[in-house]
Amino acid sequence: MRVRVPAKVNLFLSVRGLREDGYHELVTVLQTVDLHDELTCTLHGSPWARAHPAARQLMDLVLSHDGGPEVPADGSNLVLRAAAALLQRLGIAVGDRDAPAATRPCTRLQLRKGIPVAAGMAGGSADAAAALVGLDRLWEVGLDHDVLAELAADLGADVPFCLHGGTALATGTGTDTVRVLARGEFSWVVCEARGNGLSTPEVFAAHDALAAGGNGRSSRVSAEPDLVLQALRTGDVELLAEGLHNDLQAAAVSLRPDLADGLEAVRRAGAVAALVSGSGPTLLGLARDPEHARAVAEGLEDRFRRVHVVRSAAGGPRVSQVPAGSSTHAPR
Ligand code: C5P
Repeated sequence: MRVRVPAKVNLFLSVRGLREDGYHELVTVLQTVDLHDELTCTLHGSPWARAHPAARQLMDLVLSHDGGPEVPADGSNLVLRAAAALLQRLGIAVGDRDAPAATRPCTRLQLRKGIPVAAGMAGGSADAAAALVGLDRLWEVGLDHDVLAELAADLGADVPFCLHGGTALATGTGTDTVRVLARGEFSWVVCEARGNGLSTPEVFAAHDALAAGGNGRSSRVSAEPDLVLQALRTGDVELLAEGLHNDLQAAAVSLRPDLADGLEAVRRAGAVAALVSGSGPTLLGLARDPEHARAVAEGLEDRFRRVHVVRSAAGGPRVSQVPAGSSTHAPR
């Protein structure tokens, strides 16, 4: 199975408070954009590999990726965590990750990264969603949607949204999602910052420190997503520009002061609005249409590690069968 899974942007993100478990209550509006990771899952090993999952006692899992040193390849990778969670749910033990045995079924997971890493675009969460959807099909499990959603929520706050993609309003820690009516398309310039990514927990901690100091936005009256929801209903880009909001922006900028200049550069390049994507450090420039987005991007290419022109909303994870005998990775 091959799963193409899109990145997300937060059109609106309001932090409503710190919970006892260390997570934060959020109100956020998420939309997928057409920047994708691709996960290919194949079954190898013994003839048992074709048997029903319930007949298997043990499954080896092997992950490879092209995401560079910032993407873990060990058990902490969300793809492997999702696979292990699914196996646990099925009562199947996880075998070896390094030395699969020819006599045991082995699932190989090959991840091709197109979504910027540690960048505030839910790349890891998208990969976890891709693993859940792809392995459910590969292993012919046919789990109920509710069970997949439950596994997704345990894997990370953005994973339930990534299971479906599209446009959603999320509350709680971000796991309670409802679909939102969205007309039309929006064009974005996605600017990958140079240097290291940002750690999401550190950005939330910086947000709390700013709020405690009275400088944070959350110390004021909470913002509401009404303008963004109205902009989505009407497809009005100017209204969307007015409503865009990210409570984590000030925190991300406090950790990476260079982002303030970056935001200014995105505005100067002609974007209708500029904001930090999720917990950063990727910056987003809203454009009027694809042509405008390309023009904005052209003016920014020298300043950022990479600049992408994308559209929203992209569909959710798309599963396709890998033709037998084909190379494991399709050309980009
Ligand atoms: O759920 P996920 O693993 O993606 O979250 C990463 C980190 O971001 C959490 O460990 C937590 O520190 C922070 N977070 C939070 N409140 C949320 C979502 C994430 O504090 N609603």
